[in-house]
Amino acid sequence: MLKIEGLSKTFGKGTLNEKKIFSNFNFNVDNGDFITIIGSNGAGKSSLFNAIFGTFLPDEGRIYLDNKDITYVPSHVRAKDIGYLFQDPRVGTAPNMTIEENLFLAAGEGGWFSIGQKKKSNEFKEKLSLLNMNLENNLKKPVGLLSGGQRQALTLLMATYSKPKLLLLDEHTAALDPETAKKVLDLTNKVVKEEHLTCLMITHSMESALSHGNRIIMMNDGQIIYDAKGKEKEEQTVQGLLNLFKTKEGNLMASDRMLLEV
Ligand SMILES: Nc1ncnc2c1ncn2[C@@H]1O[C@H](COP(=O)(O)OP(=O)(O)O)[C@@H](O)[C@H]1O
Ligand SMILES: [Mg+2]
Repeated sequence: MLKIEGLSKTFGKGTLNEKKIFSNFNFNVDNGDFITIIGSNGAGKSSLFNAIFGTFLPDEGRIYLDNKDITYVPSHVRAKDIGYLFQDPRVGTAPNMTIEENLFLAAGEGGWFSIGQKKKSNEFKEKLSLLNMNLENNLKKPVGLLSGGQRQALTLLMATYSKPKLLLLDEHTAALDPETAKKVLDLTNKVVKEEHLTCLMITHSMESALSHGNRIIMMNDGQIIYDAKGKEKEEQTVQGLLNLFKTKEGNLMASDRMLLEV
């Protein structure tokens, strides 16, 4: 459903800061895939999402979503089909607006006072109660007053409200305390499964990359250096991933210790 063909990108071409990120990069995602993505700092994981979302345009290559060439489609148009969550819980919701108002935006409702408002509010309450974060009784609370975990759960609900074709999660639980992170991860799993979403999730935790999804990829230096699904993924271990990483990289760098975090 997502196909990246021959993607090349160099930032700051011809300057001292020239940085080649991708060179003839290829990537195929099937409908319903839940792919976890790991790799050291600077491996190009976030850049991959930025390419898919259209934050930058490629120098070469094509990107297809559901067989439609979206290579030059602007990101605000792609946003209708692609849900995107970041590490920072403050991104993705409007802080001065209430939970309800944010949800109206996500649901694509124009006027707050449309006839269906009451019905919608009940629908929001129902959806919010599934999050188990006590948001359903706080519809009138400004989102800026919520905890990081509550806000990220709400962002997840908003990003998936109109069932996006593709959901991109870029370390969306990394800024939360471990207990809340687990809650949001469980919620993510539930939403992705129940809504049959196609999802790519970047995580700094090998453990959580192995315990989520049906396919795992490891990136390094703008390339996919490991790609496993199904049984092969199920049987993979953190130690196995580390060994792979060592063989490819020579030595495990200090900056990659974070990959061992649960
Ligand atoms: N807009 C940009 N301009 C210049 N360099 C960039 C830009 N975006 C990312 N990079 C560089 O590309 C490399 C990959 O970054 P990134 O995709 O953020 O890695 P990751 O998410 O895997 O940690 C890094 O070296 C980063 O500095
Ligand atoms: Mg990143």
